[in-house]
Amino acid sequence: MDDEVRIEDIEGIGPVTLSKLNSAGYYNIQSLAVAPITELVGKAGLSEAAAAKIVEEARKHTSTDFITAKELWDKRKQMNRITLGFDSFNQLLGGGLETQAMTEFWGEYASGKSQICMYLTVMVQQPIDKGGLGAKALFIDTEGTFSPQRLHQIAETNEVDPEKTLENIIYARCYNTDHQQLIVDNAFKICKEENVKLVVVDSLISHWRSEYVGREKLSERQQKLNNHLHKLLRLAEIFNLAIVVTNQVQANPQAFFGNPNRPAGGNVLAHGTTHRIYLRKSSKNMRVATVTDSPCLPSDIDVLFAITERGIEEAQPKT
Ligand SMILES: Nc1ncnc2c1ncn2[C@@H]1O[C@H](COP(=O)(O)OP(=O)(O)OP(=O)(O)O)[C@@H](O)[C@H]1O
Ligand SMILES: [Mg+2]
Repeated sequence: MDDEVRIEDIEGIGPVTLSKLNSAGYYNIQSLAVAPITELVGKAGLSEAAAAKIVEEARKHTSTDFITAKELWDKRKQMNRITLGFDSFNQLLGGGLETQAMTEFWGEYASGKSQICMYLTVMVQQPIDKGGLGAKALFIDTEGTFSPQRLHQIAETNEVDPEKTLENIIYARCYNTDHQQLIVDNAFKICKEENVKLVVVDSLISHWRSEYVGREKLSERQQKLNNHLHKLLRLAEIFNLAIVVTNQVQANPQAFFGNPNRPAGGNVLAHGTTHRIYLRKSSKNMRVATVTDSPCLPSDIDVLFAITERGIEEAQPKT
């Protein structure tokens, strides 16, 4: 099985190269197989020729390229779902949050993005007969808004052990885009070792937006972001896990009608994410969720929900 081949089993990799690769954040051949050569040169200090050879060898041991449609179909059939505790939101997501896919929640501040992410880290831990996957979550926090107190409250009010719940959430505070890329490289190791079935990046592009300012930096930003997204998707496919990312809004100057906001990140993000869900505040304490882009989910359903001490709950429209 591909998984059993280790980096040091690749021909030509000795202890020195292995240690360089490890310090650069590469711990298994899956992460090497999807690494751009320039990245290996930059991060691990290898020559271009050596990096190209390593990537080529790593790809031989992972089925990155050709598979039959039947194999793809069999793989898709293994797709699982993490449910959110109430039917309307699950229906919006086609039955729950999909593994092998990236779901983006986008919206203005306080629209509920981080709350949904934290709630999902509790839900993924539930046993399969209760709508979870009996697995751990990895939370990559780029904004410092992750709250263990809040998770404790959600667990307690849902009658699950708060201490155990917190132990099953692996947390990484992320400080800049280089760090974010490194964390995702390391995630290939952690997700395998720790049985992680949900990876959250909250929020996906805030560091990219603040570090790459101005038109002249745009193409570099989009290129690196694209690489980052592909790695996340690869993680989802290899380990059959769900990726959830959050995203901010950006004013859409071309919108004369309809929603004046659009998700930030441009085409790269639009093509990279599988499902995009727009969250907005409604009257009182209510929020509305709508699918704005998805290959299979209907985009004409509005789901009302409320943020409560239990996490995310169904809300009834007030008449
Ligand atoms: N225990 C709770 N009970 C009820 N509402 C809560 C609770 N904890 C947080 N909230 C509400 O959640 C909202 C914040 O949501 P959240 O942090 O998910 O926003 P966000 O979309 O991530 O915003 P940002 O873009 O600023 O990160 C606030 O309105 C807050 O009142
Ligand atoms: Mg937030």
